[in-house]
Amino acid sequence: MILALAHTTPARGEEPAADAPAALFISRCSACHNVGRGEASGLDLFPASQWPPADLAGAIQRMEENVGPLDADTVQTLVRFLKDGQAPSRIEAEEKRMETELQAASNPASAETGKELFFGRRTLSGGGPACAACHLAGGSGGTLGPDLSGVFKKMGQTPLISAIKNSDYKVMRGTYGSHPIKDEEALHLAAFLETAEGLTPARKWPIHGVGGAAAVAALGLAAVFYRRPHPRGKEKLHGRKK
Ligand code: HEC
Ligand code: HEC
Repeated sequence: MILALAHTTPARGEEPAADAPAALFISRCSACHNVGRGEASGLDLFPASQWPPADLAGAIQRMEENVGPLDADTVQTLVRFLKDGQAPSRIEAEEKRMETELQAASNPASAETGKELFFGRRTLSGGGPACAACHLAGGSGGTLGPDLSGVFKKMGQTPLISAIKNSDYKVMRGTYGSHPIKDEEALHLAAFLETAEGLTPARKWPIHGVGGAAAVAALGLAAVFYRRPHPRGKEKLHGRKK
């Protein structure tokens, strides 16, 4: 579940974009085939790549019995890919890229990073205020929003991550709508909140110390929207969503 969310994180600037046809070949064909690596890992399609396009297309279409439906566009994409002469190096590059992406996605969510984000010791990349401007966790923080110490247990991991990411509550939508929280940050924050229940209460968070101008603006907004006491149940929160 965490991975599924993390996977949607947009590629960072320095990462090469996916090579879609190579990715298609890897996901649907490479269980049984390679290109130019000989017969060691499946049937080598290099000889077939020299066939006339129509013959190659026919052979690929017949692979439906192995891989399930292949529409005409997909078949043509694979024909062009196999015939472009660069297929072996493109497959290799795409495999490397996929591996790097997977490693990035499976970086474990860090409660420590989440704690820094929560309390504003690390800035949210979207520029929004720290959560502690409005929320308590483990006894520290603001009191405008509900105490989040037990929220992990209450909501469960995936709904919590999605709630943080989408900021699907009136006040938070106002605050983070134009300062989106990244998937990765939501994962860290949820990891921190999982630990927050057991934290010993400390001092109250000095609201004016958090997040600078953004927090002050957010608090102004919050004061306009937030009129109800807390904490309250999930049902009511859902009832207030649009
Ligand atoms: C489950 C294994 C499997 C998968 C997956 C698979 N194939 Fe095949 N493919 C075979 C086998 C076995 C043959 C040889 C027998 C035949 O032609 O049916 C073959 C033959 C071929 C041939 C003819 C090669 C030749 O030299 O005769 C082509 C072209 C081909 N596959 C392309 C593809 C493409 C493109 C994909 C991905 C969309 C794919 N195959 C997926 C098993 C597979
Ligand atoms: C400007 C104030 C404000 C900030 C900043 C803020 N929140 Fe909230 N948050 C609220 C309010 C108010 C609610 C209650 C929702 C409602 O009643 O609309 C809430 C609700 C929540 C809930 C649902 C709680 C529950 O018990 O169902 C979660 C989870 C949450 N916030 C997480 C966060 C996280 C994580 C951050 C930091 C990225 C954050 N919030 C930043 C004001 C804020």
